[in-house]
This record gives sequence, structure tokens and C-alpha cells, in this order.
Amino acid sequence: MTTTAKIAAVTGSVGSAHTRVEGRDKVTGAARYAGEIPFAELAYGWLVLSTVARGRIRSVEDGPVLAMPGVLTVLHHGNAPRVDTDYVGMLGRPNPVLGIFQHDRVPFAGWPVALVVAETSEQAREAAEALVVRYEEEPHDVAFRAGHPGAYTPENNPMVQAETAKGNLEAQLDASAVVVDEEYTTPEEHHSAMEPHAATARWDGGRLDVLDSNQGSTWVASELAQLFSLDPASVRVRSEHVGGGFGSKGLSPHQVAAVMATTVLHRPVRVVLTRRQMFSLVGFRSPTAQRIRLGADADGRLRAFDHRAHSLTSTVHEFVESSAVLGRVMYDADAHHTLHRLVRLDVPTPAWMRAPGEAPGSFALESALDELAEKCAVDPIALRARNEPGAGPVSGMPFSSRNVLACFEEGARRFGWAHRDPRPGLRREGRWLLGTGTAAATYPSGVAPSTAAVTAEADRTFTVRINAADIGTGARTAMALVAADALEVDPGRIRVRIADSDLGPAMIAGGSMGTRSWAWAVTAAANELRERLAALEGVIPAEGITARSDTTEAVGALAKKERHSFGAQFAEVAVDTATGEVRVRRLLGIYAAGTIVNPLTARSQLIGGMTWGLSMALHEEAIRDRADGGHIGADLAGYHVATHADVPLIEADWVDDPDPDDPVGIKGIGEIGIVGVAAAVANAVWHATGTRHRDLPIRPDRILRAADETRRRTAQEARSA
Ligand code: MOS
Repeated sequence: MTTTAKIAAVTGSVGSAHTRVEGRDKVTGAARYAGEIPFAELAYGWLVLSTVARGRIRSVEDGPVLAMPGVLTVLHHGNAPRVDTDYVGMLGRPNPVLGIFQHDRVPFAGWPVALVVAETSEQAREAAEALVVRYEEEPHDVAFRAGHPGAYTPENNPMVQAETAKGNLEAQLDASAVVVDEEYTTPEEHHSAMEPHAATARWDGGRLDVLDSNQGSTWVASELAQLFSLDPASVRVRSEHVGGGFGSKGLSPHQVAAVMATTVLHRPVRVVLTRRQMFSLVGFRSPTAQRIRLGADADGRLRAFDHRAHSLTSTVHEFVESSAVLGRVMYDADAHHTLHRLVRLDVPTPAWMRAPGEAPGSFALESALDELAEKCAVDPIALRARNEPGAGPVSGMPFSSRNVLACFEEGARRFGWAHRDPRPGLRREGRWLLGTGTAAATYPSGVAPSTAAVTAEADRTFTVRINAADIGTGARTAMALVAADALEVDPGRIRVRIADSDLGPAMIAGGSMGTRSWAWAVTAAANELRERLAALEGVIPAEGITARSDTTEAVGALAKKERHSFGAQFAEVAVDTATGEVRVRRLLGIYAAGTIVNPLTARSQLIGGMTWGLSMALHEEAIRDRADGGHIGADLAGYHVATHADVPLIEADWVDDPDPDDPVGIKGIGEIGIVGVAAAVANAVWHATGTRHRDLPIRPDRILRAADETRRRTAQEARSA
């Protein structure tokens, strides 16, 4: 059968609002997540985590547990299949954290020491909780601070350049009319995705088949293949729907445990993490201690710029929270220095968490800029305009586009910034002190090689195949819009298949690079298909026509430039200094972040990031117990995230900023929404109260302590006057 398709050119899908194609499935419960897909003969694994922070496992007393109802096996270091952790994965070096059940060492509290597998989830959990594990405990250290004697510079980290330096810093500081020299801290923070991590593994006709919740099935499949020394073609990973990732959903111990168990038991095994287990098994954002020194002329022009950021890592793997990278993009100075330092502690390895580096880094840097504006008596926006670099401050390379000032201009107009009295502590509304603040935002705009296939079907519909991951962003919908424009058809005629490693390699949903990387590949394949269809004059054979793309060459040929998204954040807060309560009343974010593919879902994503920034400013803080090395309150009752009542009217919008070198003009919006928000809130709290808060979160007790100090100081001044 052949069909003659009359293709009437339809364009303009990119940039117009579309509800997500899988939205109905999600709200009706038809969409199945990794932990709820039914299988015959499914067994359930439950992880047992160490209760000590450092030491050796003396014994895993599995005898009594094996006799419990439904228990099928207990895997531990004495009997688990061997794996090879020596491969170089996404973190650029071998990751021993994936080598669970391989040895008797315990590197942190919450390290997996056993997996109990049973017929039902309840039986597995009961047995796991009954399992006695004996340890030889060793002294541990989980206390992070900048002055830790073990602090070192991570010279050879494959992901992050530890240090950049130009000019004579001390000389420029000496020559500065105004100096800001402050330390800022941010606490340990957790991704807290709504959907806990879950994986079901089984052997299916000689192939390992894993149903997972992840940010990139190519990635997880490739790492599983290397870890278990399998032919990559014999591993398939799918991740149909994902309830949030934020950097935490790559390969973690639970998938490894599920694969081990299915290999031993020859039946499908599912391992789902509990909220509590997520606190030690899937990464987190390291606490940071950041010293910033800014030296400027009286008019605010920077002479000296110094950002030194401390974060922690585990004893088994190195991860750098790259808080100091921001200044390499944002501000130039005659002397410019950025440095990362690490402290190794007996804690789990931190990981990427939404805007890794930029999120905590921008709290420190954009607070310091506000302090400099105050000291120079220059408007914070004018100060930033005065320090706009013409090229990358460290690289010297040109910017692909840099529209941060356009964001400030549009934001200031909408927020009513012109009417702001810069003096702090003046505005009152009943018991509330009111203030406003602003901060800049930036995040890299990257792209990575991907492959895609687009098929013209005989029924005149199209199928796009790209191994994208939709972690809640609306990736399917975005790819339908991108393909629609390239094919010049209505998006309703396009179906999109994603999240299956068998679709071929593609970038992960990470680094704000997913949509741009996938769209490039989809556009390339769709363009070719459109040309082939034109040549065929619309005659489509029964099996359809497929065009394929691989963007490796095109992406590799991109000229080296500073490529970033930018933004301006505005916040209005009300502070009750009698109770310590801070309410954010308004947030506005204006972004220059490339072509916006789907304004509806883009706005949601940006608002989500901004909400997280608010949450980071006021609520989020994981507390570690120094005595036992684990968390206190490792759940969503103890770990506070902003919820409905905390979140005010948030507006997110953008200025025109298509990337000049991208086929669709995309830059990426996954992470920039959070950047700068905590600083904008902290700057607004200063504007309301007159007190700088340099430690996050800005808890009620910190507001109260500051208010007490202000009262004491005012009384003293009154007495001495
Ligand atoms: Mo993002 S922290 O790269 O998922």
C-alpha cells in the first residue's frame, strides 16, 4: 500500500504553547512509573544500609532472615556477584560507590551492606529490618568546615578546573577604594524528587532488561554493561516516566543490586528506595563555605575578584561542587581569582544537583555584589551594568550571546525597581518589614552528540525516535514541536518515542543540555526526511521511510565560545522580626535562555527552579548527626522544602535570545531558574531588615538573633549618644 501525502507546510510550532502529550496519562494514573510496572514472578529487593559511618562489616547474620516468610536470598559482600568498578563513567573516573557488596569496608552511614529479596515487598522489608549486621567501628569525621585540616585543592578532577588566576590580587585589593570580604555558607541539600528511585531488572532472552527511573537510559545501560562486563548490545534500559531527577537519577546502588539479584535468582527483581534511603544513596548537594573578596573603585568598577569555595566529598570518590565557576563567566576584574577546595569526610559522595556549582555559588557571589553596591552607594543593577565583561573574564573568548542586561532592564520595568528606595529597614506594613532584592543568573548552554530517527509512516503520521528522558520537563512534547517545524507539519501528526537505550545513543536530561542536544538530532533527521519526501513527491511505502541522524560531527565543529544562558531574579519579602518569619511575596525571573520551545512547560520549569531557589533561601537544610554520622530527620518532615503556602505569585518570562549557532536557537532552561534566587531573597531580607544573612537557610532563629543584635546595638548607640 502506498499513500500520497499532500504536505501543506505548517511551521511555528516551536514557540507556541502545547500541553504535554502524556499529560492525560499522567493525571489519570495510566502512566506507569518504574516501581509499578507489573511482572509475573516479580521478586522484591530491600536494601539494608550501614548504621555506622566508618569501619568493617564483621558479620551479616543472614541465617534467621533466610528462614523468614517469603525470603529468597540475602546478598552481601560474602556472596554477591563480582563487578568491575574500574571503568571510567560519567564522572570521568572509576566510581567505587557502585561497587556494593564487593568488600567489607563501610565508608559512610547509609552504605548498602545487604539486599534482602523476598516474594513481596512487605516480606523483604520486614526481613531487611530484622537482619543483624555486626561492625568493627572506626572513628569517623562528618563535620564540614572551611578550615578543616584535611582541605585540599582537587588538581586533577576531570569535571572541574580547580583554580584560575590572573593579575595581582593583593595589590588590586590594596588599590581598591571599597572592599567586600565576607564568608557565605550553604548547607547540605537534597534533590528530594517526588518519585523515589526504582528499578526492575530481569534477564530476557539473554539480554539484561532494566525498567528504571533515570535521566538517561544510554548512560545507565552503558555503565551497567561496563560494571557487569557485558556486551553493551545485551543491555536494555528503559525509563518511560520519571517523577523528577534534578541530577540524582543516574546509576546508583539500587540498580546494581537489582541486576545482581536477578542474575542470582533468575526472575525479575525490583528494588525501590525509600525516601529515607534516598538521603544516603543518590547523592546530594555538598554544603559549601565560600569566601568572596571584591575590590572596587568608588564607582563600583571591579579591580579585584576572588572567590574561594570549599565543599566536601567522600573518602571513596571525588566530587567538586563547582561554586566558583560563576565568576569565570559573570564579572571581570584587573585581578581575578577563583578556587575550589575539598574536604574528604566519612559521608556519601555528593552529586550534581540542579545548577551544581551555580546554585550555591550565586548565593555567595550575588550577595557579595549586593554588599558592594551598598558600600559604593550604586544601584545593584547599575553595578552589574558597570561590570559587564566584553569577553569571557578568564577565557577571553567571545560570548555567543549575552543578554543579561536586557533581562535586568525588562525585569526592573515589570518589578517596579525604579521606585525602590535603596536604604534598608525603612518600609513597614503592620508587623512586617518589607524589602526587595535582585541577583543575576547564568548557566552554561551546552550541547552533546545525539542520534535520532524520524519515520514517515504510510498513514501520513510521523514517528520520532530519540533516546531522550522526560524527567518532568515535557521532553516528548518539545521534540514533537521541534520535529513538526522541521517537517513542516502539524505536531498532532507526530508521535515521539523516548527513554529506551535501544533507540541509540543520546544526551542525558542533564546539564541543561537535553532539549538542545536532542532537538539538534531530531531536526537533522527530520530535515533529511522532508527532503527525501519531497523527492518522492509524497509517495510513502507501506514500511515507511526513515531518516537517521548523528550530530557528533556537527556538534564537534562548533566554534569555541562562551556559551551561556543568563537571567535576572527579583524578590520581594516581608520579614516579621518578632517571630523570625520570612515570607517571599513576589518572585520575578526574566531569562535570556535561547529559543523557548514550549512556553507552557518552559514557564513551569523556570517557576519550578525559582521555587527551589526560594526553598533553598528559607527552608532546605539536611542535618548530620556528628555522633553517628547519619542524618537527623531524613524525610520530608525533617527536611523542609517549600510547599504551597510558602510560594507566592511567581512570574517567569524571557527576552528574545535565540542561540546564533544552534539549528533551533535553543540554549537550555533546566537549571538557570534556581540560580540567583537565594541571593535575591537574601538581598531582599537585607533591604527589609538592614541585616545581611550570609548563612543559608535564613531560618527564623537567624532572623531573631539578628534582630536581637540590632536592638542591642541601637540601645548601646542611644546610651552612648
Ligand atoms: Mo542536572 S544537576 O545536570 O540533572
